[in-house]
Amino acid sequence: MSKNKKIILSGNRPTGKLHLGNYTGALENWVALQKEYKCYFMVADWHVLTTDHEHTDEIRRYTREMFLDWIGAGLDPEISTLFIQSQIKEHAELFLLLSMLITKPRLERNPTLKEQVRDLQLDQNVSYGHLGYPVLQAADILMYRADLVPVGEDQMPHVEITREIARKFNQVFGTVFPIPDGKLTQFARFPGLDGNRMSKSLGNTIEISDGHEEIKKKVMTAFTDPARKRRSDPGHPEICLIYTYWQKFGADRTKEIHSACTGAKIGCVECKQQVAAAIAKFFEPLRDKRRALEDTPGAVDEIIDEGNRRARERAQETMKMVREKMKLG
Ligand code: TRP
Ligand code: SF4
Repeated sequence: MSKNKKIILSGNRPTGKLHLGNYTGALENWVALQKEYKCYFMVADWHVLTTDHEHTDEIRRYTREMFLDWIGAGLDPEISTLFIQSQIKEHAELFLLLSMLITKPRLERNPTLKEQVRDLQLDQNVSYGHLGYPVLQAADILMYRADLVPVGEDQMPHVEITREIARKFNQVFGTVFPIPDGKLTQFARFPGLDGNRMSKSLGNTIEISDGHEEIKKKVMTAFTDPARKRRSDPGHPEICLIYTYWQKFGADRTKEIHSACTGAKIGCVECKQQVAAAIAKFFEPLRDKRRALEDTPGAVDEIIDEGNRRARERAQETMKMVREKMKLG
């Protein structure tokens, strides 16, 4: 039966502990997809180097944290393959081969790259590796012959490039790769504490492994409806990010909060305290599971080794086909 399941691949760059935006934008979805699909989830450690090749000392620690966050949140290493990109050297080989199948102007048109160039003010400092980011991502996806790639909006251009490369390969050398579809996640733009998209680089995050006190401290700094200067001013929950947090993590109380806010029956401080408690409660099982895994010596390493082994098996199969089709066997 599992032979006929469609294949999913997705990944995250290990740049820190996962936050609520990562959870709603990706992780929560992945957990649900595990039942229906054969899933590969990858820590994209090589991809970190494309925008920061100088600070490699944190990558291993963050990779480990990512496995803990993933498994805590419900990714099941028994049924899904969780692995580390850099430990499957085949990715480097496929990346090299695929890089011949796409032009430089095509990669320069990548809107995600343009955005990064603007945000990080890179201008003339874009490395060859950074330009090739989507080609490495294409190698990640095609290596597992994935049918579906669940990602946020910002990654869609990379999936599109992957599709173009796959078509080109199949056309020139013969069919090896399914043409993968992107699968947009729902809550793709979750608000951070300042109202912008929650993102580590903006420093507006709540981590999913944060305890109640930590969450409370952070939520207290959040922006709310600016029209509510006094407690007696009626609020507008639909423009308040705290209300978005209620909708996601305390759904049973959204009606009540909505009317208390619009009727000026609850103060923002009180509302925030309560939503912090709701968020902490929501993630409590995750934190417990995470801690249990962390406290079992060798457990994470075993899971990583086993995931890498399974990923490598599939990757070697693919590379055999690729080399044969390219007459490089
Ligand atoms: N680029 C993705 C991100 O930053 C991470 C990633 C690497 C990925 N390889 C992938 C996502 C393959 C999906 C499929 O979020
Ligand atoms: Fe936002 Fe709550 Fe204040 Fe209303 S009461 S504005 S929902 S923090």
